[in-house]
Amino acid sequence: MKRLIHSDSSVPSESLETFKTPLKDGNKNETEVLKFERISPENKKGKKIPRCLDISGSKFTEKESIVQPLKVNALVTSDLTPAVKSIYKIIQKCTGSLGGNAYFGAIYGEATMNCMKQVIEIMKEHCNFSGSSSFIDIGSGLGKPCFHVAQDPGVKISYGIELEEIRHNLAVHNMRHILQYTETNHGSKHGNVFLQHGDIQNATTLDPFTHIYMFDVGFPPLTLLKIAEIFNRSQAPFLICYHSPKLVIEEYGFNVQFVTKYQVSLHGSGERHTGYVYSHSSKTIRDFDNSIIDPLFQEGVKMIQSNDPGKLIDYFNAQNQAYLSTQTRSRRTSSLL
Ligand SMILES: C[S@@+](CC[C@H](N)C(=O)[O-])C[C@H]1O[C@@H](n2cnc3c(N)ncnc32)[C@H](O)[C@@H]1O
Repeated sequence: MKRLIHSDSSVPSESLETFKTPLKDGNKNETEVLKFERISPENKKGKKIPRCLDISGSKFTEKESIVQPLKVNALVTSDLTPAVKSIYKIIQKCTGSLGGNAYFGAIYGEATMNCMKQVIEIMKEHCNFSGSSSFIDIGSGLGKPCFHVAQDPGVKISYGIELEEIRHNLAVHNMRHILQYTETNHGSKHGNVFLQHGDIQNATTLDPFTHIYMFDVGFPPLTLLKIAEIFNRSQAPFLICYHSPKLVIEEYGFNVQFVTKYQVSLHGSGERHTGYVYSHSSKTIRDFDNSIIDPLFQEGVKMIQSNDPGKLIDYFNAQNQAYLSTQTRSRRTSSLL
């Protein structure tokens, strides 16, 4: 058994295997060296116990506490479709790779292409993530997870909601360019992403989404308590987030069961984080009724369901225009002060 570890880990070199991956986030000139620790199966008293980056302090069994080994093939960028690579190139060109531009100068971590690919592979393996899924990214930032899952596995609905206006508008800027690209490139999917500027706390449920994803490391506890209430009222069978079971189940009260965990690193913050996959206790895909849509998501979901990319392009062009004119007005006002 192997697991990916930090390059600066204190694991002795004799128990490491290295693996070179030729590119990192589309830059062909870079080579990333990934190190795997060989984990011994004998794990009883006095024997080697796999070091685990469990920051939760929760009571996992040894087996559960092993960080989900990242599959080597999930890290090979040839597995990324040309459409996915092109979309990250467009985002890079439009808004750069960092997840900054938040109010108060905060720099939030943003998903990288490889890290998101890993998350998607984990979701496919453990959460029936497929073309018939409906995905929401709570706190969608510049929109990368939403754009990625729209291509792979090509979800039915890819929805992002972002609180901060500037970041939302950067995501809209990305979206307009991606829509133009997907219009002219067959094999890439379009029309199934919607990005909303808003606060998730205004939702009553998370219906009609099957997979709830949130990079929630910086979310305030009160927000997480509220999201737990909303989640518990929802049909969603799966939750993928970056808080341990101790917090998610015991502190915030999400009605979920731990499924697995994995590690990712992000742009912006440069940190590594442990992601956790949970299943909604007592909710299954089989019982899912996708005709139920929370009022907060109705406009966006209906727009996706209308399957009219032209309508989406017009909608996001209008949003962009409205934003630019408020910016121009506020610049004019401040120059008069
Ligand atoms: C770390 S970023 C993640 C960006 C993106 N999901 C990714 O993985 O690349 C977290 C985002 O959540 C947003 N956020 C925080 N609280 C929120 C809320 N109540 N409703 C919607 N978005 C929220 C923040 O503004 C921030 O952009």
